[in-house]
Amino acid sequence: MKRAYARREFLKTGVAAGAASLLAGRADGRPGGRRAASGDGAESGRALAPPPGPVVVASGNGLRATDKAMELLRGGASPLEAVIAGVNIVEDDPEDITVGYGGLPNEDGVVELDASVMSGPAHAAGAVAALRNIKNPSRVARLVMERSDHALLVGEGALRFAKAHGFVEENLLTDKARRIWLKWKETLSDRDNWFPPKPEKAPAEIAAFVASYGTINCVAIDARGDLAGVTTTSGLAFKLAGRVGDSPIIGAGLYVDNEVGAAGSTGRGEANILNCGSFTVVEFMRRGLAPEDACREALKRIIKTTGYQPHLLDAGGRPGFGLNFYAINKKGEFGSASLWSGQSFAVHDGTENRLIECPYVYEKKKG
Ligand code: GLY
Repeated sequence: MKRAYARREFLKTGVAAGAASLLAGRADGRPGGRRAASGDGAESGRALAPPPGPVVVASGNGLRATDKAMELLRGGASPLEAVIAGVNIVEDDPEDITVGYGGLPNEDGVVELDASVMSGPAHAAGAVAALRNIKNPSRVARLVMERSDHALLVGEGALRFAKAHGFVEENLLTDKARRIWLKWKETLSDRDNWFPPKPEKAPAEIAAFVASYGTINCVAIDARGDLAGVTTTSGLAFKLAGRVGDSPIIGAGLYVDNEVGAAGSTGRGEANILNCGSFTVVEFMRRGLAPEDACREALKRIIKTTGYQPHLLDAGGRPGFGLNFYAINKKGEFGSASLWSGQSFAVHDGTENRLIECPYVYEKKKG
């Protein structure tokens, strides 16, 4: 069912200026548990603020996505159309080895992609998981939402569905990703039949990719106050074949409630799935928390529940993995929070497209 309701027509007067002043002073995310986006409403007069102009938020690899999405929103595209077109740039880019074409493969050297989309006005979602040979899983996820009665298709069925809609299969494994995978495979064990090249320099080189979760999330609100989001990924590098992360799980890697806001995630999917992270962020916003504070509260919950799984904790008893949330509320306020320092998120607030440092819970040791 598409937009079978009467949407509120917001006054357009002063939207751009209103949004700009609303966001001013909340853009310089201060690390160390300080706010990038105020949650108390004291300085912003939010209750009296006009409806937001378009705002687009994405993970740190999404600066081109936020730019594209804003361009489309300004041209009258729906938020769903805008965010998908935005992330398609990154899905198509072989240099981003965590998303789409050029993403790192599973342990067998096969690229398997996960993606979800969600549209606020229709409260509809679609997703695909473990999809092979199709470089834009976000577009297939949209078709699952719009052209099927299902919410999630996986593996062979997802591929058949994509092909039925005219998608053409292609090899997603770039030479760069294959070489990284091969080094991982050759240095995994000294008791198998794979030998690394001499001199052996691979372990240090590939260390950065092991337990790498990558992903792009992009959420947006348009000038009418309608919300949408998308999350797309090649998932955990060198995963078991068939492993599905949080990105295509509605409520974990993405959630949108058109009355409240939108949220998405990047990072360790397993931890997020166990806590319905994006749904949790939206529920915290429903209770009145500002987006950044809602992201932080969801992270706190993940930290708590990770405590039940000692093998996931580092020597200091902290989660030994990364996880980030990104959120926009119905007023166009945005925020993010990360478990660990050193992360950023992309925002186009209608006036400027920029990267902002994520507020974080734990300071990463330098070096
Ligand atoms: N968040 C991406 C994944 O876990 O696959």
